[in-house]
Amino acid sequence: MTRHFLRDDDLSPAEQAEILDLAAELKRDRFQAKPLAGPQTVAVIFDKSSTRTRVSFAVGIADLGGSPLIISTANSQLSGKETASDTARVLERQVAAIVWRTYAQTGLEEMALGTTVPVVNALSDEFHPCQLLADLLTIREHRGELAGLTVTFLGDGASNMGQSYLLACATAGMHVRIAAPAEYAPDAQVVLDAQAIAARTGGSASVFTDPVEAVAGVDIVVTDTWVSMGKEDEKAARVKTFGGYQVDAALMAHAKGDALFLHCLPADRGYEVSADVIDGPQSVIWDEAENRLHAQKALLVWLLRQQ
Ligand code: CP
Ligand code: NVA
Repeated sequence: MTRHFLRDDDLSPAEQAEILDLAAELKRDRFQAKPLAGPQTVAVIFDKSSTRTRVSFAVGIADLGGSPLIISTANSQLSGKETASDTARVLERQVAAIVWRTYAQTGLEEMALGTTVPVVNALSDEFHPCQLLADLLTIREHRGELAGLTVTFLGDGASNMGQSYLLACATAGMHVRIAAPAEYAPDAQVVLDAQAIAARTGGSASVFTDPVEAVAGVDIVVTDTWVSMGKEDEKAARVKTFGGYQVDAALMAHAKGDALFLHCLPADRGYEVSADVIDGPQSVIWDEAENRLHAQKALLVWLLRQQ
């Protein structure tokens, strides 16, 4: 049966670990696996802007012996003339997989229902699961085992990053905390889903409003822009509401002394994070950005093996 990767919990804990192991292996020897030799094509579709996702998928698909086809929705029929499921049925006759960055998660679900090739979520309004594979790979590189570590994500808890942190870290057996203003709390069902996964993996998932309480003694501190793509009109209100959630040196001092700092980028220095933290010794953002390449290659190899 075709496997898709639309949200972080589409992978079981064992499958997530297998993909992270494979990512580490591919990072050691970048050109060892050529499952796309031919070359086969992978369609990578963007409804929203991107630097890291576009580059890492294009380079990764080429590393795997394949050919990336980057499509901007604005000049494709997907921009309004054709449904996601009809688009998928056209693409599946010609490509090995479909990667899509879009707005509503429901579009991805529709695309996946209509096709026999794997569909990968390259960021939706609700989840950013490819980023989380890279983040977990980065944390593993710096800390060894993931299970048992405590991570706090601060900012927009209802965003793709906040919600993916809940699901992916619970899957990895971590203790995940979201620190967000009450009106930007993660979706209640996503919290319940994360808690149900955590109950099986030995992790936990909890939501805080107080940033200091949320980062007390944690191993990893994470944030993301306060103004996700599509929310630009709300910038002034968001900056006001999220003001107290900036990750600065004073807040980092409440975490473990050697706590890691992660940010998926792009970053707004002086807003969600101070320059001294994001550019300081605890920050692992450049490893994190590089790991998009290795993690997504492993994901594609794994998905194609299930076909
Ligand atoms: N982190 C991330 O997804 O970056 P891009 O928006 O540049 O792809
Ligand atoms: N939450 C951000 C992530 C960017 C990679 C956004 O959706 O814009």
